[in-house]
Amino acid sequence: MKSATSCLAEIESHRQLADGIYSLWVKAPRIARSVRPGNFLNVRVADGPDPVLRRPISVCDVKGWSVRLVYRVVGRGTRMLSRFQVGSEIDLLGPLGKPAPRPPEREVVICGGGIGIAPLLYLVRDLVGRRRLTVFLGAKNRSELILRREFGSLGLRPRLATDDGSTGHKGPVTEPVLAAAAAARHAAVVACGPRPMLAELVRSLDPVPVWGFVEERLGCGSGICYCCALPKKSGGYIRFCQEGPVVRLNGVLL
Ligand SMILES: Cc1cc2nc3c(=O)[nH]c(=O)nc-3n(C[C@H](O)[C@H](O)[C@H](O)COP(=O)(O)OP(=O)(O)OC[C@H]3O[C@@H](n4cnc5c(N)ncnc54)[C@H](O)[C@@H]3O)c2cc1C
Ligand code: FES
Repeated sequence: MKSATSCLAEIESHRQLADGIYSLWVKAPRIARSVRPGNFLNVRVADGPDPVLRRPISVCDVKGWSVRLVYRVVGRGTRMLSRFQVGSEIDLLGPLGKPAPRPPEREVVICGGGIGIAPLLYLVRDLVGRRRLTVFLGAKNRSELILRREFGSLGLRPRLATDDGSTGHKGPVTEPVLAAAAAARHAAVVACGPRPMLAELVRSLDPVPVWGFVEERLGCGSGICYCCALPKKSGGYIRFCQEGPVVRLNGVLL
C-alpha cells in the first residue's frame, strides 16, 4: 500500500444537501493530484484527542485542487464534522484504500443506494466514454436522491427509485437494477449502498460480476487491526481498508 500522509485542508464550502446529508469541498492539492475513484480519506473530526479514531469518508468528486466529500450524519463523529465552518481547516489522511478496478466488461450497470450514491459520482466520471453505462439511484424519498444534477452533467440520465414512490420506480432500487443486469449481456454491476442491497445484488445476479464499495466500520484504516476483515468464500479474509474498499462481492461472504 502507498503510504498516505495527513494534511490540513481549507474548507471551501459546506452545505446541507438533504436532511442530515452534507457536501464538503476542501482545498487539498496533494490529495486532488493523487486520488483515484474508490479511494477514501480518514477525517479527524475534532481538534482534541476525543474521538481518537478518524472517520472514513469516500471521495465523491475532484475539481482542480479541490476534493468533495458527501456524508450522512449518523452519530457523534459525523455530527462534529457537520459543524466545521467554511474557511476553517480540517485534518485529512489519505488517499487510502485501493483505487476501484475498471470492470473489463463493456457494459456497466451502476447502482447507488442512499448515501452510497456519493462515491459513485467520481467513479462514473472516470468510466464515462470508456464503458456503456446505465445508472440507477435509489433513496428513501425524492429529497434524499442526491447528486442527480451532477450525474446529469456527465450526459447520463440516471433512472430513479424511491421507497415512498415520490420519484421514479416505487420500491427498492435493486428491482430495476436486477431487470437491467439480467437483460444485458456481458455486463458488470458496480454498487454502493447498504449491505442488504449489496447482498441482494450478488444473490440474484451471481455469476454476473458485482463490484461493491464496502463502507463498514473501520479501526486503524491501515491494515493492522483486522477490524474490517470480511470472510472470503475460498477461505481466509480480505481487509477492505487494504484490498478494498471496492471489492468483487461474488467472492466474499456478506
Ligand atoms: C471506506 C469507507 C468509506 C465511507 N464513505 C462514506 C461516505 O462517503 N459518506 C458517508 O456518509 N459515510 C461513509 N462511510 C461511513 C462513515 O465512515 C460512518 O458513517 C462514520 O464513521 C460514522 O461515524 P459517527 O461517529 O458519526 O458514528 P458512530 O457514533 O460511530 O455510530 C453511529 C451509528 O452509525 C453506525 N455506523 C458507524 N459506522 C458506520 C458505517 N461505516 N456504516 C454504517 N453504519 C455505521 C453505528 O453502528 C451506529 O449505529 C464510509 C465508511 C468506510 C469504511
Ligand atoms: S481497519 Fe484495521 S485492518 Fe482494516
